[in-house]
Amino acid sequence: MSDTPATGPATGAAITVRAPAKINLHLAVGPVRPDGFHPLITVYQAVGLYDDVSVREAEEWAVEVVPAGGGPAVAGVPTGADNLAVRAGRALTSYAGSGGAANITITKGIPVAGGMAGGSADAAATLVALDRLWDLGTPDETMLEIAAGLGSDVPFALLGGTAVGSGRGEVVQPVEDHGTWWWVVVPHRAGLATPAVYAEYDRLGLAEPPQPALSLLAALEYGDLTDLADTVGNDLQPAALSLAPELADTLGALTEAGAYASLLSGSGPTCLGLAGDAEHARAMAGRLSEQGYDAVLCAPGPVAGAHLVSYA
Ligand code: C5P
Repeated sequence: MSDTPATGPATGAAITVRAPAKINLHLAVGPVRPDGFHPLITVYQAVGLYDDVSVREAEEWAVEVVPAGGGPAVAGVPTGADNLAVRAGRALTSYAGSGGAANITITKGIPVAGGMAGGSADAAATLVALDRLWDLGTPDETMLEIAAGLGSDVPFALLGGTAVGSGRGEVVQPVEDHGTWWWVVVPHRAGLATPAVYAEYDRLGLAEPPQPALSLLAALEYGDLTDLADTVGNDLQPAALSLAPELADTLGALTEAGAYASLLSGSGPTCLGLAGDAEHARAMAGRLSEQGYDAVLCAPGPVAGAHLVSYA
């Protein structure tokens, strides 16, 4: 660990980094590999729901998770050594050969266990925040490598924007996206565990070698809403619906409310509706709320990956 740089934060300062949720516009999942992961070809998009991660130098690792907008601690997120942000911090110190530790406060705006990679966002934000706190200047390639070791979606949370993911999702390549897309995001009251959804996908025997998303990439490049609506898709949707059949009603409600396309986010259970613009998204969200859906959100995409928001 280096001395505090002249341009860096004062001792005891907190650094806050914001990282976005992701959705998968295309998620093609192949047969399970010998290592237990599934080969993917996916198109990620970072959308405007965020977790903010603040780090402060400390004697020992500690993590606290609070909801965006205030209120009691968020349930369902581990706060011990299992928390992915703590694992990210340890991975960075191990790379840097330093012995530092930090207090990590996660302010959660991303639905928990929703298929929107909130834990991955926290890990990515922690890497960026600690790299700055300790003035490590870790090269981007190394950050992506450390991120890949933490989880399949963590490299994309660093990158943001819109990108093709391959391998198990950890190999990311930015793509042209000239749209400003609006999504209606409908969280589900109970989360779905990602491994359970993949296991159900295996059980259903649906896997084919994953195909690239050429028409979808063209729709993004030209910013064409109807072409995008026609080309989004998620191979995990039948598996998630098999585990949580009520999600079909949510997808149907989105379509009835006027979504150009309705699909599952990642491994679910969050459901997404593609809107024409911000106003349309708000009107759709209003209709779902009237029908009793809780905490319906609107989010634009693409947005930036993990980025510094404050020194304090
Ligand atoms: O990489 P990550 O830790 O996010 O993966 C969580 C779980 O999701 C894995 O343990 C595995 O069960 C499943 N998974 C998978 N294939 C992938 C990504 C995740 O089977 N490409």
